[in-house]
Amino acid sequence: MKNKVTTLSEFIVERQGDFPFAKGELSRLLSSIRLAAKIVNREVNKAGLVDILGEEGTQNIQGESQQKLDVFANEHFIKAMENQGEVCGIASEENENFIAYESELAQNGKYVVMIDPLDGSANIDVNVSIGTIFSIYRRVSKSGRATLEDFLQPGTKQIAAGYIIYGSSTMLVYTTCNGVNGFTLDPSIGVFCLSHPNMKFPSTGTIYSTNQGNFVHYPEGIKQYIRYCQEEDLATKRPYSCRYIGSLVADFHRNMIKGGVFLYPQTFKNKKGKLRLLYECNPLALIAEQAGGKATNGEKRILEITPQGLHQRTPLMVGSVEMVEKAEEFLRRFPGEKGER
Ligand code: AHG
Ligand code: MN
Ligand code: MN
Repeated sequence: MKNKVTTLSEFIVERQGDFPFAKGELSRLLSSIRLAAKIVNREVNKAGLVDILGEEGTQNIQGESQQKLDVFANEHFIKAMENQGEVCGIASEENENFIAYESELAQNGKYVVMIDPLDGSANIDVNVSIGTIFSIYRRVSKSGRATLEDFLQPGTKQIAAGYIIYGSSTMLVYTTCNGVNGFTLDPSIGVFCLSHPNMKFPSTGTIYSTNQGNFVHYPEGIKQYIRYCQEEDLATKRPYSCRYIGSLVADFHRNMIKGGVFLYPQTFKNKKGKLRLLYECNPLALIAEQAGGKATNGEKRILEITPQGLHQRTPLMVGSVEMVEKAEEFLRRFPGEKGER
């Protein structure tokens, strides 16, 4: 054996000291997420084999078609969060309203959770990486049923956030605001092992990720930045590569390891952007910042946006600091109207 393997459960216990006030509460909460992740992973892995693929026939609150694995993942994370009594409520991308748990045990819970149970769901039936994104806050209400105010907190108030990527291997990556660590699932023993300690975004990179099919609908500053990415310049290793999977988690994960920037700006169709502030952008922004990267809506830090609604959307630029700042520079130079052609 070359190195001692650290499992996720050992690591969570070791890091309990980060939250001396929490006395194991956060550890128990993270353990519930770990368990739900393993169950969802099992289903994702056999998605091609069993009759779980295809449209569920319902639409989620954003009016998008919902697939069976979304429903499965949603139900499992909701159940898992209720069981240990640390969480008083959960808001999910798949549910119109937040869920305030009914049991007395859960109502004493001090935390709320926000979740995108299945990210990249359009990629499920083509065997491309998908993910789960989660975000944890301390409740602001004293006790009893969770309230809307518990959920409408700015991202700066997150105490932990993470994602699971169901890819060529399954990984769980999370932060408790003391760096970012990644764990790879060893499927033979069903255990997440520390494989990517102290993850850091390279300060720059050679990858830009965006749905370039929307180019014509992008704000002028973003168009100009994309043209800049495509120009030839030896010193800055341009032209950059364009890599876009269409699963935010997977695009973000690759960029964090290799260096890159992800851009989902406002468009003509989605005037406020497409991605959801609470379920997608805030958790990834916290991870990005904890890994030395940057996340902005083009005008301000994602984490400082005060949410007005559970399903609020926002433009997102996230990734390597120097690349995000270059894109911001182009937005300042070419302000234009939002979504201007
Ligand atoms: P979800 O599957 O949770 O609805 O998220 C899909 C998101 C995100 O994962 C991805 O980056 C983006 O939508 C892709 O959108 P486009 O197809 O418009 O590029
Ligand atoms: Mn998503
Ligand atoms: Mn989703």
